[in-house]
Amino acid sequence: MLGPLVAAIDQGTSSTRFLVFNAKTAELLSHHQVEIQQSFPKEGWVEEDPKEILQSVYECMDRTCEKLTQLNIDISNIKAIGVTNQRETTIVWDKETGEPFYNAIVWLDLRTQSTVERLINRTPGRNKNHLKHKTGLPISTYFSAVKLRWLMDNVEEVRRAILSHRALFGTVDSWLIWCLTGGEKSGVHCTDVTNASRTMLFNIHSLDWDPDLCKYFDIPMEILPKVRSSSEIYGLMVSYSCLGDQSAALVGQMCFQDGQAKNTYGTGCFLLRNTGPKPVMSDHGLLTTVAYKLGRDKPACYALEGSVAIAGAVVRWLKDNLGIIQTSTELEKLAAGVGTSYGCYFVPAFSGLYAPYWEPSARGIICGLTQFTNKSHLAFAALEAVCFQTREILDAMNQDSGIPLSQLQVDGGMTSNKLLMQLQADILCIPVVKPSMPETTALGAAMAAGAAEGVSVWSLSPEDLSEVTSEKFEPQINPEGMTTYWLVFRQVVSTFDLVELSDAS
Ligand code: G3P
Repeated sequence: MLGPLVAAIDQGTSSTRFLVFNAKTAELLSHHQVEIQQSFPKEGWVEEDPKEILQSVYECMDRTCEKLTQLNIDISNIKAIGVTNQRETTIVWDKETGEPFYNAIVWLDLRTQSTVERLINRTPGRNKNHLKHKTGLPISTYFSAVKLRWLMDNVEEVRRAILSHRALFGTVDSWLIWCLTGGEKSGVHCTDVTNASRTMLFNIHSLDWDPDLCKYFDIPMEILPKVRSSSEIYGLMVSYSCLGDQSAALVGQMCFQDGQAKNTYGTGCFLLRNTGPKPVMSDHGLLTTVAYKLGRDKPACYALEGSVAIAGAVVRWLKDNLGIIQTSTELEKLAAGVGTSYGCYFVPAFSGLYAPYWEPSARGIICGLTQFTNKSHLAFAALEAVCFQTREILDAMNQDSGIPLSQLQVDGGMTSNKLLMQLQADILCIPVVKPSMPETTALGAAMAAGAAEGVSVWSLSPEDLSEVTSEKFEPQINPEGMTTYWLVFRQVVSTFDLVELSDAS
């Protein structure tokens, strides 16, 4: 007897997945994945089609259920489904027809750069951190408020729909939950605290929309979804948990204790460190974000986050734009063939630089090229870039907390690249630990969904924790040897006109 099952919709930037787990053992029983198209209508713009995102969810659910049936697993045993999603990506749709008014503006999108610069210029002392005391975030193109503002200013239908009270705003979680709970007939318009905390409209202390922030961005509060906890029953069709994907990964990695951290290598790369029930403001350019709130009556837990915009996206760029690999998996072989970047450095600041700099005008750099440099060296430099950027985040986090991390828990698609993992351990000078079940984001969402339905997923004993640890990558280079490379990378980054954030105000 298999017992209860829990499932997760994992809607990421590059793909959608539906995964079903055995609630008792957390074993992954079946899943299906569909890639999501991105469009780049102008330089710096990144869009996705909300209808395609929804369709991909249906397709993944259908295919996974078919696979379960073939395995003689009764799909009626699925007791709860969680939603975890790419955060910040912004959608506005018509509550009467269910039609989006415009494509989803993806978190990486830079079209609001001039708006952000204008907003910062207006603040006393041109302070990026002007709203940080309430939001935990610097004013940046990354977050939803400026994307929503752009839609209101540039899409006539959005403006008209707001005037006629037909417009609904949401991040991808809200859009999916609204559609899956009946859309224009009975759709539930909600989000959770983790996703709300990425909008710049949400007060991370009161855990609600902030009227002053809404006024600041001139956004009508009636179009905002209701904010719920990360684990409760939202609607009848599906969804008993809702967490931004990085929060879900923190839960899936069992980082429930103050000081525990994980780094997820997806389209971008996101290092979150649990800071317990009180929000901690960073002095080193990190974000303060709501990590999770696992139940209506449970306290919120917060995290410090270092966000790197481009990680897996650099692999897609090498494949789609340069054509030096045919599939993502080829990258490891190509880079391992040379085992060095031969002095080539790559800063893939395609969408500006995120933490710890928050500089939207930065752009990608490849340097140190010689006639000897070839595509293998470039591939190696791309992998190193992901690791160096993580090092920048980890250093900032260690400085903020005063207690250096002694090892890094990792997950996400890129962690199947063993060369990357070894490089990461070498560059951080601490061990990198990867769980045997890499789908921690989906597992976190499924665990939270199960909890809302009273199905407790997996006991959280230390034995279980040690069981999930399968691969540990120890640093193999002495720290002095690494310092030279590290300093050169820092020097390349410093060619941008950067002002490191040292102001927690
Ligand atoms: O903040 C953006 C993040 O949620 C995207 O995650 O997994 O799609 O890179 P991912």
